[in-house]
Amino acid sequence: MSADESGQTLAQLVQRDHGVWEACAPTYEQRIVRGHPDVLAYTAFEEDLLDRLLLYLARDEGREVGLYDVGCGSGRLHLRYGRLWTGAACELSEPALASRLKVVSGLDFSAQMLELARRKLAAAGMEQLVGTRLLLEQGSAFELAEQPRQPLPLVVALCNTVGVMQGPAGASQFFAALRKAVAAGGIAMVSCYQREAVAAFALGNYESTMDVSGQPRWLVPADYAGEAFLQVPRYYKRAYDGDPTIAVDVYDRQGNPVREGHLLSRDPEVARETVASGHIRTYSDYESRWYGFEQIERWMAEHWAGASAYHLRGAQLDALRGCPAQLAFLDFSGLVAGFLERCGALDRGQPPPGAPR
Ligand SMILES: C[S@@+](CC[C@H](N)C(=O)[O-])C[C@H]1O[C@@H](n2cnc3c(N)ncnc32)[C@H](O)[C@@H]1O
Repeated sequence: MSADESGQTLAQLVQRDHGVWEACAPTYEQRIVRGHPDVLAYTAFEEDLLDRLLLYLARDEGREVGLYDVGCGSGRLHLRYGRLWTGAACELSEPALASRLKVVSGLDFSAQMLELARRKLAAAGMEQLVGTRLLLEQGSAFELAEQPRQPLPLVVALCNTVGVMQGPAGASQFFAALRKAVAAGGIAMVSCYQREAVAAFALGNYESTMDVSGQPRWLVPADYAGEAFLQVPRYYKRAYDGDPTIAVDVYDRQGNPVREGHLLSRDPEVARETVASGHIRTYSDYESRWYGFEQIERWMAEHWAGASAYHLRGAQLDALRGCPAQLAFLDFSGLVAGFLERCGALDRGQPPPGAPR
């Protein structure tokens, strides 16, 4: 049975995407996660939110927590929270957090991503923590093990990981996998982009990072879109940039300049279709989905029924940095409502759509 519009099965999509992530690991890290200012703002928002949730659980509720990052990529959270245990002073040095956050585990299907994570952890002086408090495992996000009740499992998938998990069939399976993972008493949190933000955020974002993920399908001409060339945009297009063109410098795969200042423009019809569908496609095999708020809501209803679940727009928590995002929480601990209430995102009289189920 096919899993998406291309007619490929989920297994074929996994194989395709596995190849994509193996190939793009270093540039993805450099140009997107640690590069594009709007992505940096979004990941900073996620980290701040996670810091506060961990503090709420560990310091205020006195719970021991095990953080589990699914689709952990190059170990962003391992690096962030590993600093708690190195003895070096850092802005996170909070005694309850350092003692009650027990472990940061991560799972990813890309060996290259995990290798990058190990190298970064070693460079940050955390090598001795790898294998004890910082765990990295290669595997499938669709086959998550049921997490033990203690320490409290907090399972997260950040930075639109669900949007690159092999299309709607993969995303749906992932929501089911999360439920199984935390059913013994934990919390799952999915942070992803919303389709509603594609026009303002996604078009410019993918245009200005096409050296990582390939020329977006809505840009013409496609003269240098093939594997033989690398097109390097000259600057990052920020949110709400309405310019329908972008200039790139073109190189061959040996790094020799081919053409300077090559101008690409949006095909209005394809750009419109992308905005409507939230389906980002490039001339390489890379694709990303920015799912609509209603779509995430449907998967929550389908896979998380009968449990407490909360669905928020990122702007409810942080109007600037969270603007393109949406957040889905699944809670078997009974602790998330108190946290969201503290953040002003949950008025018990008027729970946001989807909460609690
Ligand atoms: C958008 S990156 C996010 C990385 C990281 N969560 C962060 O916030 O920096 C998505 C990651 O998900 C991984 N991934 C995609 N599909 C997967 C699957 N089916 N199983 C496991 N990992 C997957 C990719 O290898 C990639 O590292």
